[in-house]
Amino acid sequence: MSKLRVGLLFGGRSVEHEVSIVSATSILAALDTKRYDITLIGVDPQGRWHMAPAGVQPAALLAGDARAKALDSRREVLLPATPEGATLVAADGGETRLAAEIDVIFPIIHGRGGEDGALQGLLQLAGVAYVGSGVLSSAMQMDKDVAKRLLQAADLPVVPWLTFKGDDLLPERIPDSARLGLEELGSPLFVKPANSGSSVGITSAVDFESLVAAIEDARRYDTKVLLEQAVDAREIEVAVMGNDSPQASLPGEIRPRGSFYDYEAKYLDAATELIIPAELTQSQSDRVRELAVRAFKTLDAAGLARVDFLMRRDDDMNFINELNGLPGFTEVSMYPRLWEATGLSYTDLLDRLIELAVERHQQESALVTRFDDSQNR
Ligand SMILES: Nc1ncnc2c1ncn2[C@@H]1O[C@H](COP(=O)(O)OP(=O)(O)O)[C@@H](O)[C@H]1O
Ligand SMILES: [Mg+2]
Repeated sequence: MSKLRVGLLFGGRSVEHEVSIVSATSILAALDTKRYDITLIGVDPQGRWHMAPAGVQPAALLAGDARAKALDSRREVLLPATPEGATLVAADGGETRLAAEIDVIFPIIHGRGGEDGALQGLLQLAGVAYVGSGVLSSAMQMDKDVAKRLLQAADLPVVPWLTFKGDDLLPERIPDSARLGLEELGSPLFVKPANSGSSVGITSAVDFESLVAAIEDARRYDTKVLLEQAVDAREIEVAVMGNDSPQASLPGEIRPRGSFYDYEAKYLDAATELIIPAELTQSQSDRVRELAVRAFKTLDAAGLARVDFLMRRDDDMNFINELNGLPGFTEVSMYPRLWEATGLSYTDLLDRLIELAVERHQQESALVTRFDDSQNR
């Protein structure tokens, strides 16, 4: 049987560019080369795609210096949005236009442009199978306001919040928005850009002044800003995988050393502790796992998502904080480690995710896409 041609797509334009390279490096090392023909596709910070065979390391492919340019095998490529199956073509349109053919794309680009549905739209138009959720679900998971509204409508617990956008965020209106936030939600509060990732633009505020400053800051990252009640909570995370019948891993816990799990704690601070599995009673664990699967289904997720909870210390109330469609995937990242603790190795997890991508693509390809009026006659 011929090998499945997998395109490992990483890098990207978001603040999570570097993390994505580390994730891709781990994935590359663990993918079974007996099963897969792997092509590396690195997206540079300007958004250009570069391809290399799997012998090259992801970091080298995207190094911003002569190292990358010196790679003989590096080529700039494009993925045309035509449904011919994923055929990467040379960006310079040279003689050998065809650069590579791919059966499945494994996109491990975190954050905006990677897990917000935009990339999924391109992959969808190109007619290629890809790991993870589709366009709509990716977009819903990324937008904290939309995600919370849908979770709430499904009777899933979310932290009380208000969303401000448009005129409410004009400089002269921000004080009014801040006052309304304090009135409705009390303090302390968390302020977040609706499409954030890696805690960028997220701050906590304790009074009017700090709230105004926090909104002004969040507004720099997005045109939509959320104010949320701050909850004194444990941070519990569950890995979910599957398409039609998703399964939940054992829960894990994150213990940031600082006041909250900010950008620094996520990537720079080795002291952030991951407790896997989390120290929970059987019923607490069962409860978050059940909620995680319900959240996954509610947001129409496919393939994988990490579901993050805020478990209030007072009463163990499990608020769903957010879903991450393409979570960190290094060997020390929560998502793969949770599966490992649940009995699925990193390599088996990758196999399963690729399988799920192919299954979903086949299912979609079998759908009627054109109304055939001969049947009507
Ligand atoms: N309502 C809240 N109460 C307490 N802590 C919060 C709240 N919202 C966010 N946090 C803290 O901020 C971190 C980042 O917020 P999150 O919504 O997960 O954004 P991101 O998408 O950037 O990860 C969380 O991991 C948690 O430590
Ligand atoms: Mg988070």
